[in-house]
Amino acid sequence: MRVFVAAVVAVVVALVATACGPGTPRGAGASEEGVCVSGKYWRGGAPSAEMHPGGDCIGCHARSGGSAPSFVIAGTVYPNLDAPMDCDGVAGATVTLTDAAGKVWGLYTNEAGNFALAAKDAPDFVFPFRAQITYQGQTNEMDPAQGNGSCNACHTLDGENGAPGRAVIAGGEVRLGG
Ligand code: HEC
Ligand code: HEC
Repeated sequence: MRVFVAAVVAVVVALVATACGPGTPRGAGASEEGVCVSGKYWRGGAPSAEMHPGGDCIGCHARSGGSAPSFVIAGTVYPNLDAPMDCDGVAGATVTLTDAAGKVWGLYTNEAGNFALAAKDAPDFVFPFRAQITYQGQTNEMDPAQGNGSCNACHTLDGENGAPGRAVIAGGEVRLGG
């Protein structure tokens, strides 16, 4: 089976375009639940492949319209279930999707932990899909299959629609906050 790699070019371009150094933790005044393990947050500015980690990428892009790209799959990988919005996740993880036609799609997380499959690169993607996250040789799998490609719509800090929280790497099924 062929593994399709997408979004890599977009990620590289975005890295060059944003060119901001490592982020800084939010001020002590920010009252956010959860724990941001990376200590780095998206600080706004120009939209890029690293924007709004933890946010509902596809939902917001659909509402925004305009030049916001259309994705069939998009989300963020975290090291813990209770990561707050805009907190950078895990870079260098592989997200493997098996669509309903049995086709396997491989995506990689960028510096923000974000990954995305552009609609134009996957006109033949068939829902529902199964998902696996692999990092440093360890795999965490989602059971069952899902019909919504916007992972963070369900994988919120608290979890929606039965999800336990964020989509995490193996060993990350913990809540670090109180
Ligand atoms: C709250 C709304 C919102 C959320 C959440 C959001 N985006 Fe966006 N995004 C936008 C808008 C609006 C644009 C288009 C901005 C413009 O017109 O240039 C955009 C543009 C982009 C672009 C194109 C940037 C460029 O170089 O032109 C990428 C890539 C992108 N988003 C990825 C993501 C990913 C991945 C996520 C989820 C992890 C995400 N976005 C979450 C609103 C959002
Ligand atoms: C419609 C809601 C929904 C969407 C969308 C969704 N998931 Fe899930 N996910 C769930 C549920 C519910 C569970 C818990 C299943 C269980 O208990 O076995 C889960 C569990 C997981 C797990 C294991 C537990 C965890 O939190 O890490 C991973 C990994 C995962 N999903 C990855 C993904 C990825 C990657 C995407 C997007 C490509 C995605 N999910 C989209 C609902 C969703």
